[in-house]
Amino acid sequence: MSDKSTHSRILILDFGSQYTQVIARRIRECQVYSEIIRFDTPAADVAASKPKGLILSGGPASVYDKGAPQIDPKIFSLGVPVLGICYGLMLMANHLGGRVVFSGRREYGAGVLHIKNGSELLGGLGEHLDVWNSHGDEVTALPKGFRVAGTTEGCDFAAVEDPQRKLYGLQFHPEVAHTPRGREILQNFLFHICHCAMDWTMGSFIEEACDRVRKQVGNQKVVLGLSGGVDSSVTAALLHKAIGKQLTCLFVNNGLLRAREEEVVQRVFGENFHVRLKYVDASDRFLSLLKGVTDPETKRKLIGNEFIKVFQHATEELLEEDQSNGERKHGGYKFLAQGTLYPDVIESVSIQGNPAQVIKSHHNVGGLPEKMHFELVEPVRQLFKDEVRQAGLQLGLPKEIVYRQPFPGPGLAVRILGEVTPERLSILRDADTIVQSEMEAADWYYKVWQSFAVLLPVQSVGVMGDQRTYENTIVLRIVESQDGMTADWVRLPYELLARISNRISNEVKGVNRVCYDISSKPPSTIEWE
Ligand code: XMP
Repeated sequence: MSDKSTHSRILILDFGSQYTQVIARRIRECQVYSEIIRFDTPAADVAASKPKGLILSGGPASVYDKGAPQIDPKIFSLGVPVLGICYGLMLMANHLGGRVVFSGRREYGAGVLHIKNGSELLGGLGEHLDVWNSHGDEVTALPKGFRVAGTTEGCDFAAVEDPQRKLYGLQFHPEVAHTPRGREILQNFLFHICHCAMDWTMGSFIEEACDRVRKQVGNQKVVLGLSGGVDSSVTAALLHKAIGKQLTCLFVNNGLLRAREEEVVQRVFGENFHVRLKYVDASDRFLSLLKGVTDPETKRKLIGNEFIKVFQHATEELLEEDQSNGERKHGGYKFLAQGTLYPDVIESVSIQGNPAQVIKSHHNVGGLPEKMHFELVEPVRQLFKDEVRQAGLQLGLPKEIVYRQPFPGPGLAVRILGEVTPERLSILRDADTIVQSEMEAADWYYKVWQSFAVLLPVQSVGVMGDQRTYENTIVLRIVESQDGMTADWVRLPYELLARISNRISNEVKGVNRVCYDISSKPPSTIEWE
């Protein structure tokens, strides 16, 4: 609970539902600030952050499971309105003296809610409402003081409430798109029951984030590793607005970037934004380190560790440059800025057993903060990806930066299977450039999560003119995804695939075969290494 500002705030206790983040986003879309906290946060801490309302998320457990996540029951008597969704409702009923049974089967799917008794939570929604269920437990007797607010065919207690104590429970999920009028239910909760103000806007966020940064760093210097990705770029733009010349961005060319990447970043930040940008060309160091290395994990580790060394060395150089520019001696670069986003923060508080957490951890191997003695500045750590994009646009970043596709830290090295050599890099860069330009020309680039080429260590026989060839294979990997955790391959039009394939085989020397990867994640991953 980091933000001490005076926004109306809703706290969401996370019991492990796959929809917890969706709840948080839905609320922010209503211009109310929301934050996800651990399910076991003590009532006193909850009260101290002065929320206008609480939402108890759903979760995979049954309230009767051994080790099922529990709530501090004092939360129900704080006098703060509570909305329990699914598992959250079960907990509430269970703690307040109602009865919950495990219905013996998990029930998923659409249903119709029949609204009763003039509930304020369901006000303005008519008498019947399409809703989406996903639950295993069921309330069979209400706690004292509660009444029914809605029923479905299979459930007499699909919506319940104790308006006196401002406690509300829904068996279904108002946050998902399959409950088409779910937003209105959330709005009723936010504005009629919790009396929130609509004061979460990007403009106010930027102003407050700037204030916070100024307070945190005083007149000290801040260094930021700028990769050209959305998160670090927006962080750079925001810090530039907040502290101007106290910010220096370091852009490390590790030799594994896409074609012209260093040009784009230098143009946008150095020329348009006038950010102090130090460009470090360390390609030779990285490439000689990778000579002969084929094991994917070894590649990642080498690249991660080398990045730390290069970064450290570059900050020392910055200090020397400052002094030779006649600046007064300062204490060095104590602050490191990072584009950490809200989902990264939430992942570290969510409950055990979330496999996504394990899968993602490898991305952070060799990260900067653990090994260096910087204090972190993370001005966008409260934002979701779509919010960070909005902030970027508001700060004046161009669309090509704000909506660019994710690109992995180890760069093209994880898209070259086998050894990374200058020749193989050049083949992959040329193929990748064709993929990007054709995707953009056909208006597909911004519709997909990622679109890129992979170079396989496989040669095959082909024919060119009268000659047989024995050349390389390029794979096209084009996926759609919400967050990179799961993904599916994109059903691109055949004509576009054909154009990309023809251009690569004709224009990229050393390639005679192009394949399309039709695997989803899971069981595959998006990158090939
Ligand atoms: P995978 O391949 O695990 O990728 O399905 C999921 C998302 O993460 C990106 N990715 C990385 N990003 N450093 C990063 O910053 C990495 O080492 C890394 N590996 C994968 C990948 O591009 C996809 O968007």
